[in-house]
Amino acid sequence: MSNAEIAVVVLAAGKGTRLKSGLAKVLHRAGGRTLVEHVVRSAWAMRPASVLVVVGHQADDVAAVVAPLGARTVVQEPQRGTGHAVQVARAVISKSAKYALVVPGDAPLLRAETLDALARAHTASGAAATILSAMLQDPAGYGRILRKQDGSVAAIVEEKAATPEQRAIREVNSSTYAFTLEKLWPCLEELQPENVHRELYLTDAIALLDQRGEKVIAEIAADPHEILGCNTRAELAEVDRVFRARKRAALMEAGVTIQLPETVLVDPDVSIGPDTVIEPAVQLLGATRIGAGCTVRTGSVISDSRLDDNVTVRQHCVVTNCRLGAGCVVGPFAHLRDGAELRPGARVGNFVEVKKSVLHEGVKAMHLTYLGDAEVGRDTNVGAGTITCNYDGVRKNPTKIGERVFVGSGTELVAPVEVGDGAYIAAGSTITENVPAESLAIARERQVTKPGWVAERRARQSEKTKLENRKSKFGPKPTSEKKRRAAKTKRR
Ligand code: UD1
Ligand code: CA
Repeated sequence: MSNAEIAVVVLAAGKGTRLKSGLAKVLHRAGGRTLVEHVVRSAWAMRPASVLVVVGHQADDVAAVVAPLGARTVVQEPQRGTGHAVQVARAVISKSAKYALVVPGDAPLLRAETLDALARAHTASGAAATILSAMLQDPAGYGRILRKQDGSVAAIVEEKAATPEQRAIREVNSSTYAFTLEKLWPCLEELQPENVHRELYLTDAIALLDQRGEKVIAEIAADPHEILGCNTRAELAEVDRVFRARKRAALMEAGVTIQLPETVLVDPDVSIGPDTVIEPAVQLLGATRIGAGCTVRTGSVISDSRLDDNVTVRQHCVVTNCRLGAGCVVGPFAHLRDGAELRPGARVGNFVEVKKSVLHEGVKAMHLTYLGDAEVGRDTNVGAGTITCNYDGVRKNPTKIGERVFVGSGTELVAPVEVGDGAYIAAGSTITENVPAESLAIARERQVTKPGWVAERRARQSEKTKLENRKSKFGPKPTSEKKRRAAKTKRR
């Protein structure tokens, strides 16, 4: 079968009342992506002719997420149910499409392989509709599959309309279906809003097909997790948990060590090389790429960054949009951000912030330092407490430090400023002018030392205390009886 005859229709117009959110349900995130993005990606991965997303609630925002993925959208306004959503889609589904795969926008764990298998089962059986079902321990909230004697499907009954016996059925509707369109269209026209919500239910089309003598089958998903919907915050958390576990399992399979894996959060696009060790409570986010043989120690959060091989990120670092060359060591407690680039072998220690700066090979900035808009040449040592004063209140100014420079502790570099190769800056300097290569710059108050000053002060002080003691011996100035009484009452 060619999937080129298949149009995928993603139902994503609903509000998601049960989430109690200002954000449309399909825009909530799980496993590092919006729900609808997961669904559209899986849809494309089975290579259909087209992917169409039915939008309604916050339509523009949902369209903005799916358009870059190459999906078309159609607006359902108002949203009168899942059956109505497919009616709306009908106008835009290409006439050349023979089948539709209908997929709910809130079931993001569904995999392309499962969709593909559903499509194959559908065409092989010649059924008018094939439902993806699942056996759940707790089927509460889902529509139940009513099978006939021969195993084919008679109807789907929604939980609210189900009898106690029907509620005991553990086989549920995933809301993912394959339909043969020429069979589906006449039934869709007959849908009636005969339910508590006064909506047109796509599930009712199943009974209508059966009544017309059409064959409906249900294929049970091998992994019931895949059909989990996200109607509540608890379900969202559960789905997120499954995504994260899948990602970690794939990384471990590829040779990554993850300690206490359930505490580690990794976004879907992150890649990690073999023999890298990820310690507990680490987050690896966005488009982060980590090489082989790296160590990311506990509590660190790395976003949108690239780490080459053998990098060590020690405890509790925040690394955002950075590039760390091979063998770099950073942290503990380092904050690297906004395009900071550490060339191979550079080292950054505790309580160091680096922003939009390049630290060349072998640079060391080990303690309590801020480097912003700076370039630091190779093998330069940046002393403890060095600060680039890069912001003048209006704009950010650059600092350029050459190679093999010694920047003494407690230096302030007032940008824009340049320090030449091999220069030496005395500790505690406030550098406001360029320092030529190979020269020493001292920019601080000369020290004043007063010999014997402490002893003199001590003598002065003891003289003062003696005087005061004498005063108190002869008692305070006599006060009148009246005044003393007043003070006493006040104290009470
Ligand atoms: C639906 C099924 C139920 C199934 C469950 C699986 C119906 C009537 N019930 O229930 O049998 O077990 O999914 O998760 O179909 N949507 C629209 N337009 C609308 C209404 C909904 O696009 O007018 C979209 C929603 O955004 C959502 C999807 O359709 O992505 C499913 O709707 P939802 O309200 O979540 O249906 P359930 O109550 O979960
Ligand atoms: Ca749902």
